[in-house]
Amino acid sequence: MSFNRTIIITGGAGFIGSHVVRLFVTKYPDYRIVNLDALTYAGNLENLRDIDQLPNYVFEKVNILDTAELKRVFDQYQPDGVIHLAAESHVDRSIHSPLDFVYTNVIGTVNLLNEAKRIWLNSLNSLNSLNGFRFYHVSTDEVYGALGDTGFFTEETKYDPHSPYSASKASSDHFVRAYHDTYDLPVVISNCSNNYGPYHFPEKLIPLFINNIIQKKPLPVYGDGLYTRDWLFVKDHATAIDKVFHAGKNGDTYNIGGFNEWRNIDLVKLLCKQMDEKLGNAPGTSDALITYVKDRPGHDRRYAIDATKINQELGWKPSVTFEEGLAQTIDWYLENTEWLSRVTSGAYQDYYKQMYS
Ligand code: NAD
Ligand code: TYD
Repeated sequence: MSFNRTIIITGGAGFIGSHVVRLFVTKYPDYRIVNLDALTYAGNLENLRDIDQLPNYVFEKVNILDTAELKRVFDQYQPDGVIHLAAESHVDRSIHSPLDFVYTNVIGTVNLLNEAKRIWLNSLNSLNSLNGFRFYHVSTDEVYGALGDTGFFTEETKYDPHSPYSASKASSDHFVRAYHDTYDLPVVISNCSNNYGPYHFPEKLIPLFINNIIQKKPLPVYGDGLYTRDWLFVKDHATAIDKVFHAGKNGDTYNIGGFNEWRNIDLVKLLCKQMDEKLGNAPGTSDALITYVKDRPGHDRRYAIDATKINQELGWKPSVTFEEGLAQTIDWYLENTEWLSRVTSGAYQDYYKQMYS
């Protein structure tokens, strides 16, 4: 079978990556999509079971720290695009194991940049020039640090990361720009707000709390619960990534968000209310599980994205309200309790035992 383009998507077995792989494999049957993923605790091929038999989908179990394997994959597939999502992604884990974040997020990204540069330069020197090559780094708004009560992160906001996670993502963003400025590698970056939706690993706020409500366990709210996050439904992030990959300007950055800020405690109360309705509980049942616990060190007070640029330049906007997205997310978790129990057993539990023992 011949394809018009080949794109390597890293981290495609994870939360956001699986939605991006699904969107690209189904929307672009003429693209060959290579999902490159090491399958850490956060990667799960079950997330892609509905599309993994399609002829334009390929999986490669590769760690981005393994340069020999990366070379093999880039030589074998000659990609004309890379969408890089593979990362260690959880702030709390980064506080306990910062080096894991340096290895995967910083060194892994530089390894990929080196391969991208090699393949792209080779193609420029041959008759088979790759069609519109680009390296797309999927990043986070956490690189900008914390906001006070007002204001938004724009593409011009100065980087000011506080957690080891956000420091590692800031560093990888800088390397991506450095490869553009130094070697002219065609790159694009997006910085997105907090995502939620199906296949979200239940260590992050929303899926952890859904799982705990199902299991009638406490809901640990950090500090005073007045920290604010800007939430985006993961399928809307995937459509934004599609836009940025195809129409974003070379060397540019795009902030992605839905102007949807929630204080943690307000979000948790909405989640409790929707869960009680769906589970047929008496009102207030899930609220009673809310437990204030010790704050996260270095906890950023507020994130809020100004998404004007992607809206005006690329015509992207979110498709669902938060209430709709949250209801869809809860329905998915209630219909997929086996997925939940499988991913919360094994490696994940061992990790938490070790961390909190
Ligand atoms: P995730 O933790 O759910 O998935 C990460 C994936 O990367 C997993 O499939 C894992 O197996 C893979 N991976 C990890 N280390 C690897 C390695 N060394 N080699 C190869 N594969 C490896 O993460 P996510 O929430 O889907 O986030 C994806 C990307 O989007 C990350 O780069 C993250 O920084 C960024 N991002 C996430 C959010 C969010 O709210 N989750 C928001 C903005 C940006
Ligand atoms: P999280 O989902 O870990 O995303 P991030 O740290 O990348 O924003 O956390 C979202 C918010 O919820 C953040 O302010 C920390 C808070 N939080 C809790 O209060 N309790 C929890 O158990 C978790 C995981 C997060």
